Amino acid sequence: MAKPKYNRILLKLSGEALAGDQGGGISTSTLEEIAAGIKAAHELGTQIGIVIGGGNIFRGIAASASGMDRASSDYMGMLATCINSLALQDALERAKIPTRVQTAIAMAEIAEPYIRRKAIRHLEKGRIVIFAAGTGNPYFTTDTAAALRAMEINANVIMKATKVDGIYDKDPVKNPDAKKFSSLSYIDVLNRGLQVMDSTAISLCMDNKLPIITFSLRDPANIARVVSGEKVGTIVT
Ligand code: GTP
Repeated sequence: MAKPKYNRILLKLSGEALAGDQGGGISTSTLEEIAAGIKAAHELGTQIGIVIGGGNIFRGIAASASGMDRASSDYMGMLATCINSLALQDALERAKIPTRVQTAIAMAEIAEPYIRRKAIRHLEKGRIVIFAAGTGNPYFTTDTAAALRAMEINANVIMKATKVDGIYDKDPVKNPDAKKFSSLSYIDVLNRGLQVMDSTAISLCMDNKLPIITFSLRDPANIARVVSGEKVGTIVT
């Protein structure tokens, strides 16, 4: 079996990824495909922490732009990540991968609280740990939560799976001549205002020298490819 390049990763999934082609909510068939992709990466022997967004259910920033109190809308977004986390746990456990959900907002009847040392123990025992409810604070995105958790669990890399197959100099959907980067520096991403992650998340990764790899989740087999060191997507270092 191929050896993983990374011993421990933090996988960031967007909430929209769970919606598949249905636009919103959770598509169970898409969820199963993603779970199969994660399973293939897990079978390489890498330890996996996951942060998942909530945009398929509720988008805090969009709601606050249309007048809702930002903190309230962010809390609603955090609850959306909990729903997605439970859905992903269910799909992973149906694929026979032991999984624990830890949440940054206490809801003991539903999931374990986030406890860093316990999360690391779970990872060492081969369990996938899904970190729900963002950082538990409004005004922070799930990208920032992913960067924070990656640092806390000493992940070797943060893998951001999106709809696009890497980072382009302009939006590749609107500009057919957009050029894809194979690698970039953090400062390039910040200076050019490239839409990889928000600036708080990028700065956190930069200050702590945590590489970011962005790639497309349209083919969930990409997760295992990136874990085994294949050049897929764009790396930010
Ligand atoms: P070990 O310490 O390695 O045995 O880990 P474990 O997660 O198997 O043991 P534990 O007894 O902590 O948890 C057993 C199950 O209960 C797991 O599915 C946990 O996710 C779950 N669990 C643990 N703590 C909580 C909690 O505070 N709330 C909820 N809802 N579930 C919890």
